[in-house]
Amino acid sequence: MKKWMLPSLLLIWGLACWTACEPTSSPSSPPSNSSDEIDARVTALLQKMDLADKVGEMTQLSLDMMMVGEPYNIPDPQTLDTAKMRRALVDLRVGSLLNVAGYALSRERWHEIISQIQRYATEEKASGIPILYGIDAIHGTNYTKGATLFPQQITQAASWDPEISREISRITAYECRASAIPWSFSPVLDVGRDVRWPRLWEGYGEDVLLASRMGVASIEGYQGDRLSDPQRVAACMKHFVGYSAPRSGHDRTPAYIPERQLREYFLPTFQAAVDAGAATVMINSAEMNGIPVHANPKILTNILRDEMGFQGLAVTDWTDIRYLVDRHRVAKDYKEAVKMAINAGIDMSMVPVDLEFPVLLRELVEEGEVPMTRIDESVRRILRLKFELGLFESPIPPIDDYPDFGSEKHAGTSLRMARECLTLLKNNDQTLPLSKRSRVLVTGPTANNLASLNGGWTNTWQGRDPVHDTPGKLTVLEAIQEKIGKDRVNYVEGTRIEVKNNEHIDRAINIGTAVAAARRSEVAIICLGELSYTEHPGDINDLRLPLAQQQLVEAIAETGTPIVLVLLEGRPRIISAIDGLADAVLLGYYPGNEGGVAIADVLYGLHNPSGKLPYTYPRHTNDLLRYDHKYTERLKVDYSFNHFNPQYEFGHGLSYTSFAYSDLTLSSSKIRMDETLTVSVVVRNTGEEPGKEVVQLYVSDLVASITPSYQRLREFEKIALQAGEERRVSFELRAEDLAFVGIDQKWVTEPGTFTVRLGGLTETFTLE
Ligand code: BGC
Repeated sequence: MKKWMLPSLLLIWGLACWTACEPTSSPSSPPSNSSDEIDARVTALLQKMDLADKVGEMTQLSLDMMMVGEPYNIPDPQTLDTAKMRRALVDLRVGSLLNVAGYALSRERWHEIISQIQRYATEEKASGIPILYGIDAIHGTNYTKGATLFPQQITQAASWDPEISREISRITAYECRASAIPWSFSPVLDVGRDVRWPRLWEGYGEDVLLASRMGVASIEGYQGDRLSDPQRVAACMKHFVGYSAPRSGHDRTPAYIPERQLREYFLPTFQAAVDAGAATVMINSAEMNGIPVHANPKILTNILRDEMGFQGLAVTDWTDIRYLVDRHRVAKDYKEAVKMAINAGIDMSMVPVDLEFPVLLRELVEEGEVPMTRIDESVRRILRLKFELGLFESPIPPIDDYPDFGSEKHAGTSLRMARECLTLLKNNDQTLPLSKRSRVLVTGPTANNLASLNGGWTNTWQGRDPVHDTPGKLTVLEAIQEKIGKDRVNYVEGTRIEVKNNEHIDRAINIGTAVAAARRSEVAIICLGELSYTEHPGDINDLRLPLAQQQLVEAIAETGTPIVLVLLEGRPRIISAIDGLADAVLLGYYPGNEGGVAIADVLYGLHNPSGKLPYTYPRHTNDLLRYDHKYTERLKVDYSFNHFNPQYEFGHGLSYTSFAYSDLTLSSSKIRMDETLTVSVVVRNTGEEPGKEVVQLYVSDLVASITPSYQRLREFEKIALQAGEERRVSFELRAEDLAFVGIDQKWVTEPGTFTVRLGGLTETFTLE
């Protein structure tokens, strides 16, 4: 018998005993996963559970809590602590675990650990209910050594191709299950309305439509047709809602979002995900309009459940119930905080490093402070997910069933995807592509590390410890050396980003040497940007690219050697002081483990770039407007600088070929509310090589009862055209596509005149 089969068989046996009268499955007849049958199994199981079983199910602990050592400080070699496991999993009946104890594990180790954990849950705990293990697999299964690491979400969004997100999530699901983990805390559906926010790169950018399409594709990629598929996982849309627009720009600080904006900009990505069947949601750690979201029944119950129709599992974010006391100060003690959050609508607490939560929750129920109906509702959702995921039948999938884990095939997919996302912002006089014969200087703080390619959540939380880098992956420098030969590459570090107490500090190292090398080179490739970070450690007080990096560019510009900037960064660091010194600018965002090769491919013309900005690249620190700003924000008047003037516009991105738009045609110049307008345009590849173009349809509402946005993206499609080829691209617009949230906080489409804009062409129509 294979080792993995033991726990599953014991589990099925254990459950069969505990739930003998269940009208459903037995080991000999695998259960069907029809919704009704799962409901029946949940109901039967729930009836047998006592209060301790139930509050245990609602508890999620960190893996640290199963290990020898103190949480956040687990010594090597990491060892499971049997007494701790027994206390948490058997005595307290904890139903869910998450995270790594510091760094990525091999998948063999994951199998060992999760098998042991499941053994406690299923053999030693009377209910035999398996553990639901969750992990942040946000750009690949980034907590399993050797897994395929993909471009981060912001990078994926720059492809403007939802199929890329679908495929990345599909492979991530496969590699998660290969690691015995059935639940991924992804995707982030917080729309990036503030580019200072240190988690901007974890989302799909500033636009609601683009982020919704990418998010839906991601959820479908994770979940497939059925969660019991051993190659799929439960997705977790996060962080509901309003996390991405903190007033300070810093992580987990207050946001002030009027209801109209909440509905128009922040809820739709989540609604699209709910409609696509997202199994779980994670709640926003921060406060909105003075109320921590974890304690807000209007958000967690009235909006999420009653209005949006979400039926899945709602988990808190890290420590957030306790933080209602320690940080937000809306509860006098932990017990009051538990009562607030559970009554507001939380199903599971990501506790994750204390054992008090289930004890307090139990007391609250016994004291009548939390109704039993509320508990049953949550436990029902949790059990349902466990059944849907097939955990009762197979808590540990066979390790040999995943031959493609971390394979060359998956790495090849990651490379193709990284190439699709790279965004060429500027290319004066066709500086790019470079000739392979030119001697180049490669310099800058992001040229020679994998952290600036991968970003946070890469083998460790902050993703910047080179000890944990995936072996064999190439930095930008190494990829260029491989492409053109080491003898043609002068490498000088120039400046370095150092981290002290989580603060990222830029330091000039040898700018003079870089300048001397630039004089000996035909081109200077200067790699700038950021190291990896996430959450609080990524907070900054100045969006400008650090001074040392700017000085590096200024000094090299003195030599007259043409400059190519390669930007690797999680958010658009302001480059207005040096953009004019560069002949070409290539934005890589965080392109993942294959990003170095992808960048070299674009620099040397092996791939024609087609990425487009998923956010507005600002020019000034006090000008952080989004592309869909109001008309008053773009007025250019003599006595004010208050007009929209970004460095690069949302949707911008160049190609090595060129495209011409012509014959913009509307099916009618007037439509009624119940009619559909067809908008079409001819796009022609007027250059000399094949390329891809993102056709973007913007609509402007000229007059509305709530001041209209200057423009909104209403449709888009990425197309491939051979040199000389042309194609007519058509979009359908319905009245609801033109809607906004009106004076009464409800979606409305008002009659009037609208302008459509496609590739610089405009037309007008009237809605009656
Ligand atoms: C983050 C979440 C993440 C969770 C679990 C939190 O600190 O905000 O995005 O899913 O940790 O690791």
